[in-house]
Amino acid sequence: MPWTRKDLLGLEPLSAEELRLVLDQVKAFKEVSTRSVKKVPALRGRTVVLCFLEPSTRTRASFELAAKRLSADILQVQPASSSLLKGESVVDTARNIEAMQVDAVVLRHNSSGIPVRVAQAIRPSVINAGDGSHEHPTQGLVDLFTILEKKGRIEGLNVLIVGDVLHSRVARSDFWGLSKLGAKVTFCGPPPLVPAAFEGFGARIATRLEDVLPEADVVIALRIQKERMEEQMIPSFRSYARLYGIDEAKLARAKPDVLIMHPGPVNRGVELAPEVADGPRSVILDQVTNGIAVRMAALFLTISAQEPAASSKPAAQTAAVSL
Ligand code: CP
Repeated sequence: MPWTRKDLLGLEPLSAEELRLVLDQVKAFKEVSTRSVKKVPALRGRTVVLCFLEPSTRTRASFELAAKRLSADILQVQPASSSLLKGESVVDTARNIEAMQVDAVVLRHNSSGIPVRVAQAIRPSVINAGDGSHEHPTQGLVDLFTILEKKGRIEGLNVLIVGDVLHSRVARSDFWGLSKLGAKVTFCGPPPLVPAAFEGFGARIATRLEDVLPEADVVIALRIQKERMEEQMIPSFRSYARLYGIDEAKLARAKPDVLIMHPGPVNRGVELAPEVADGPRSVILDQVTNGIAVRMAALFLTISAQEPAASSKPAAQTAAVSL
């Protein structure tokens, strides 16, 4: 099955077959970063625009490295020095950038749905690098790939997602990806931060961590998103850490081979005790490493799927390309 989407806006619209195709491509690209010369010509002559209108360390840096390792040219749109500050809309900014013959726009925005609107307005590929509390598809793919790499499978695993689900775009992308690939997803957190609506999509909801931690194969701790809370939704960080923070004492009741994951940035001592974040069951830095290959796959597949200019396309994808 070929990849046919010019944009990557979320994992909800993707089929299990499409998810597997991307994960196969990630595996092929991961090998490139183990070489002494970490560069392939797959996107030579293409231009990738990085438009991060909200802070980012991991996603922005890994997209930049991914584009460079594919030999693409990069244009950074800096919000503080762009005409967005003068009131130009994101769609108008994107249409002006499109007029400069670019091939992909990687967009992070604090409002849900902006990447979808931009993708409808421009020909270049649009990759959602996180929009409000909607989706963060490449982080979802990072988490799927890391679980697959460490556990050898996704189907049948119990994945426990703990914390501020309400505001988390990562939780949504993880949920869609994991459930399409056959994992059983449980959300656990303070009731105001865990929307019951997820039960309607097949997730399990829990409020007591001690009830669900022992059966988890994977725990994904979510960052408490102070910046998105319109009112105080937890009494204090200290009480959150006592009930939902994962420390050595709670981990003693988990499976010995449980994976501890976090999309970052970690509030140390809140979502995870430092000894857990840095401990032997943590794969947080493996997630960061895998972010580069995931973003290489996202850029390569979406740009390859563009129409027209078939003669200048990279090789069409029917299987993962080894380079
Ligand atoms: N996981 C994640 O999106 O991290 P950044 O905000 O640093 O990009």
